[in-house]
Amino acid sequence: MSALKILVIPGSLRTGSLNARLAAVAAHELAQAGAEVTRISLVDFPLPIYDGDLQAKSGVPKHAVNLKRMMAAHHGVLIVTPEYNSSVPALVKNTIDWVSRVQDAHETRGQVFRDRVFAIASASGNRLGGARALAALRLILSACHATVIPNQLALAFADDAYDEMDRLKNAADAEGLKALVRQLIEVSQRMM
Ligand SMILES: Cc1cc2nc3c(=O)[nH]c(=O)nc-3n(C[C@H](O)[C@H](O)[C@H](O)COP(=O)(O)O)c2cc1C
Repeated sequence: MSALKILVIPGSLRTGSLNARLAAVAAHELAQAGAEVTRISLVDFPLPIYDGDLQAKSGVPKHAVNLKRMMAAHHGVLIVTPEYNSSVPALVKNTIDWVSRVQDAHETRGQVFRDRVFAIASASGNRLGGARALAALRLILSACHATVIPNQLALAFADDAYDEMDRLKNAADAEGLKALVRQLIEVSQRMM
């Protein structure tokens, strides 16, 4: 069997992003569990705000097509999103909106969501850890007919969540991440 490939996407561009840090720790955990991991930054996939006129005039931007193809080359996708005003940041929603418009040859529009497994996580400095963004993100991905695994991680007080080895200090957080990774791998393997 070929190696299980997982794509990790942090939903923040910010230098020192709490979510990019959690994405890095999750990528490490996934690799430890035997997955072949690609971790990207959305800074390499800049997209204008979705506009139907723009799409009608110029088609879907190449960065959305490239990101869709990158997703298609993986069995599972982990999105690690910040919470903005109790929901997902525009960056995350806009990226999903554009990718959901991509239709390569021999596929239906948005097929990349239907054919693979998604896991979601969030990190925030407050005590909810971005849980409301996860609810929003689960709804968005479900609307795209993605399989979103039940386990998720909302990392609370994320600016103080790590030890000096960059491991999650809190046992419940560490176990939550392990459980998410295990389930993402299991479900992705079933869908391979
Ligand atoms: C516009 C805006 C709205 C925010 N709203 C929330 C919120 O609703 N809940 C929350 O936990 N944090 C909120 N935050 C704080 C972010 O969680 C915090 O800035 C976090 O560090 C952003 O993620 P990042 O570090 O990965 O960039 C908000 C931040 C911004 C800029």
